[in-house]
Amino acid sequence: MLPTIDREGDVVVMIDQRKLPSQEVYVRCKTAADVARAIKTMVIRGAPAIGVAAAWGIAIGMRRSTATGTQKFAAEFQKTCDLMAATRPTAVNLFWAIERMRRCFAAAAQAGQSVDQIKDGLDREAQMIHDEDVASCRAMGAFGASVVPADAHILTHCNAGALATAGYGTALGVIRGAAEAGKTIAVFADETRPFLQGARLTAWELMRDGIDTTVITDNMSASLMGQGKVNFVVVGADRIAANGDTANKIGTYGVAVLAREHNIPFYVAAPLSTIDLRTADGSHIPIEERNAREVSHIGGAQMAPTNAKIWNPGFDVTPHRFIAGIITEKGILRAPYVETLKGAFAQGRIAELQDSQK
Ligand code: MRU
Repeated sequence: MLPTIDREGDVVVMIDQRKLPSQEVYVRCKTAADVARAIKTMVIRGAPAIGVAAAWGIAIGMRRSTATGTQKFAAEFQKTCDLMAATRPTAVNLFWAIERMRRCFAAAAQAGQSVDQIKDGLDREAQMIHDEDVASCRAMGAFGASVVPADAHILTHCNAGALATAGYGTALGVIRGAAEAGKTIAVFADETRPFLQGARLTAWELMRDGIDTTVITDNMSASLMGQGKVNFVVVGADRIAANGDTANKIGTYGVAVLAREHNIPFYVAAPLSTIDLRTADGSHIPIEERNAREVSHIGGAQMAPTNAKIWNPGFDVTPHRFIAGIITEKGILRAPYVETLKGAFAQGRIAELQDSQK
């Protein structure tokens, strides 16, 4: 499996996703601040992966603390969590992972544990978040494989693969699951301007797995669909609101609209940690605005006039009505999402309700 992120002693090691596919370089984060910087600067990206990174960042950060009393240790813990929370705003997995670490800390402190015991508990929690993420991706892969056509021509956007998770991937986990189930798979990877996660990362990791992959620029998908060359779309998610509206990489909304026009099922694959029941609908999801230079330049070369006005939102929101199903580690959720999403948390199991607009 791809080494997206791992812990070696008190160091968090990550493959530098800014350098792929031309260089395989690893970044070693020794402090919580190193991890926060790595998330902010996209050394590691993808919603589940940044949640896992934040958990590890908190664990190694607190491991380095020299505080002996729980009060000082608690103040440092709070600062470390705040540091992680300030990295990127859209992917809710980041805040979910921080919340898990906070709960772990609170339970240990309440039980009267020593600073060393709390440190050990935080390590265990981060390891659990890491391992659960891989297991969730595998489960999504198995559930998702059932809805992938036997001879599949799949379009995906951005990178929701092993690199965007602790391993295996969400949308690419579904593709891997279908391939492992013996289905014939061909993938079209949108290049995903401006950061090129599709061209640089999705193509790189699928080709390593020997999966037939074709890179297209983002403006080619309508033509591809119009020619009948796509029969399934699957993407990941950064935050799914309570009504099923889904924030994902900028450009996803357009792909969903095109898929509807061409009668192609459009699926989202995401773990329950991406579902944010506290956000009622997509209009409340915070969308990260990124640096203008990502749009004005490609590989250092200037593409837009100096001082041109640039708009660079990192994500868009696909309204729930375009989504045929949300593939989770518990099963496939169908509309009405406002009921099935809540039900997934309330009952700990998934009601497979029929979606009239599958
Ligand atoms: O800006 P990024 O690269 O972090 O955005 C990533 C995406 O939008 C992914 O599709 C999403 O996080 C799902 S990853 C399993």
